[in-house]
Amino acid sequence: MRICVVGTGYVGLVAGAGFADFGNDVECVDVDVEKVKALRQGQIPIYEPGLEPLVQRNVQEGRLRFSSDVARAVADVDLVFVAVGTPPQPDGSADLSQVWEVARAVARHANGFTVVVNKSTVPVGTADRVLAILREEGPGKDFAVVSNPEFLKEGDAVNDFMKPARVVIGTDDERARERMRYLYAPFVRTLERVVLMDALGRGHQVRLQRDAGDVHLLR
Ligand SMILES: NC(=O)c1ccc[n+]([C@@H]2O[C@H](COP(=O)([O-])OP(=O)(O)OC[C@H]3O[C@@H](n4cnc5c(N)ncnc54)[C@H](O)[C@@H]3O)[C@@H](O)[C@H]2O)c1
Repeated sequence: MRICVVGTGYVGLVAGAGFADFGNDVECVDVDVEKVKALRQGQIPIYEPGLEPLVQRNVQEGRLRFSSDVARAVADVDLVFVAVGTPPQPDGSADLSQVWEVARAVARHANGFTVVVNKSTVPVGTADRVLAILREEGPGKDFAVVSNPEFLKEGDAVNDFMKPARVVIGTDDERARERMRYLYAPFVRTLERVVLMDALGRGHQVRLQRDAGDVHLLR
């Protein structure tokens, strides 16, 4: 699938490289031009075992690229992953301004049915607000929003991403759910657990079979 990962920090870089390694076409974008420049020169800004060879291999094989051009990168992709920062504010709540900014950029520049997947850590209800921004600022366009929180352990992030103990997929849109299941099928074949739910976190668990990819409900 064609994927854009917005925000090439700890989460975005690991996710972008991991998705590329399973054969997807991935562009990682970041507003930090120095970070992008370094990544293009093969310099990895964080130390995480296995990340450097993972990035290098996928760049060399043409599945992974880096840029600062958010508008172009989100234009014609199947999935946009939002992996920007959500720092705490003085009152303890998360500052979601970077998430809203990405939603506005996707609304303006996306073409075709685009699934916006939130990997940043955000409060319940953020998906509805993102969808509202997409609809307000991209009238007539076709969007769906998915919550797909990340549970990476620093020091073992690549391993955690490639062999997840669980994958949480929260959405009300069946087309988006199918795209996400297809994307994660190669990851969960080895460790199996996918948790499907609606945008408010209500749902059920499914187990993806190791061999056939059949789905069995574990109600
Ligand atoms: N670090 C972790 O272990 C971890 C684990 C799970 C979840 N998370 C969550 O994932 C999210 C990202 O965390 P991180 O540690 O990768 O953050 P980070 O600060 O390392 O990276 C975020 C990146 O987003 C970029 N960015 C900001 N606004 C942008 C925009 N409009 N367009 C493009 N790029 C933009 C920044 O320049 C930065 O490089 C946070 O919500 C965090 O809470 C982090």
